[in-house]
Amino acid sequence: MTETVLVTGGAGYIGSHMTLSLLEAGIQVVVLDNLCNSTAESLRRIERICGKAPVFIQGDIRNNAILDNIFTEHRIDAVLHFAGLKAVGESVQKPLDYYSNNVAGSLNLYQAMARAGVFHLVFSSSATVYGEPEQMPISENAPIGTPTNPYGRSKLMVEELLKDLAHSDPRWSIALLRYFNPIGAHESGLIGEDPNGIPNNLLPYISQVSIGKLKELAVFGNDYSTRDGTGIRDYIHVVDLADGHLKALQAISTQSGIHVWNLGTGTGYSVLEMIKAFEHASGVPVPYRIAPRRPGDIAECWADPSKAARELGWQAKRGLEEMMLDTWRWQSGNPQGYME
Ligand code: NAD
Ligand code: UD1
Repeated sequence: MTETVLVTGGAGYIGSHMTLSLLEAGIQVVVLDNLCNSTAESLRRIERICGKAPVFIQGDIRNNAILDNIFTEHRIDAVLHFAGLKAVGESVQKPLDYYSNNVAGSLNLYQAMARAGVFHLVFSSSATVYGEPEQMPISENAPIGTPTNPYGRSKLMVEELLKDLAHSDPRWSIALLRYFNPIGAHESGLIGEDPNGIPNNLLPYISQVSIGKLKELAVFGNDYSTRDGTGIRDYIHVVDLADGHLKALQAISTQSGIHVWNLGTGTGYSVLEMIKAFEHASGVPVPYRIAPRRPGDIAECWADPSKAARELGWQAKRGLEEMMLDTWRWQSGNPQGYME
């Protein structure tokens, strides 16, 4: 039985929703986060929501002394590894930072786990590893693509590393979870996505336009061969994503080896459909203009989530309207994010 887990990156967007879900499921949580892209306020909000708090250690996954100390002080059954950098554009400018945090940091963490005899791991991967997929929807058997940027390559490298690790030693039990596009926020409106600076991703951009923080959205291309010419993605509610991790955690507690699961809804929406759905949920107009395509973007990408349904008994429950309402509640209630 899983009693205590280590969540790296637990103060961040997905990690904070995960920490809340784990605490609500009666699992104790140790969070390790260096707060390079988050604040400890997210953890205080979690306590406000559920009345329980994780143990918080501010530190870096590349610090061996901190890792060894955590594994000595706490009886960790499994690790959920979210810590890392995730901005695609920045990864092109600062590849060393990305390989250091995402690849060297992950390697360091797995070495510390092995030293401590902890072999259960859930890793945050991304649909980005599929590159430009030939067929929709994308199943786990689809060929791995060639990521076009250091961020994508860092995820692919860690996936390969983990496959080698699992094949080398049957004690390892690893879930590789490939996320599609996580959006939304907890229904309380107390935790959500709080990007630093100008957001890169669609939903944070739309929501900052809606509260007047940004002037207008640039829609990156309307000449794709999609139903309205704009890019199509599989947006998944962050709380559904966290539920998927809980199921994966259960699964790896009883089976060893490495398992890959897509976490998506199986439905794709275009950029224009997302704008409309947000306007409908919030009652606020989102001004936009059509801009050139963003380099590196693909036309469409949505998941075949049937493997997770079959093997984990998991499927996303929250539809587009709920994703938009929850995003709006978080953004309108916290216009400055966690900075009150
Ligand atoms: P986030 O930036 O909100 O969270 C990452 C957290 O890790 C932050 O709190 C940051 O402070 C921390 N961190 C970064 N480097 C660290 C280090 N070296 N040591 C300790 N802590 C460190 O990002 P997120 O959206 O919550 O993403 C979580 C994970 O999921 C990442 O690995 C990301 O690549 C992956 N992922 C995210 C998405 C997405 O759209 N959000 C999609 C696919 C995969
Ligand atoms: C991006 C990353 C991908 C990562 C994923 C989830 C890139 C090239 N890819 O994917 O590696 O795994 O986030 O974090 O950044 N859009 C606009 N205007 C905007 C922002 C986005 O029109 O201001 C469009 C995009 O062209 C795309 C859709 O909205 O069609 C979604 O974009 P985004 O949220 O950035 O996610 P992805 O491009 O799918």
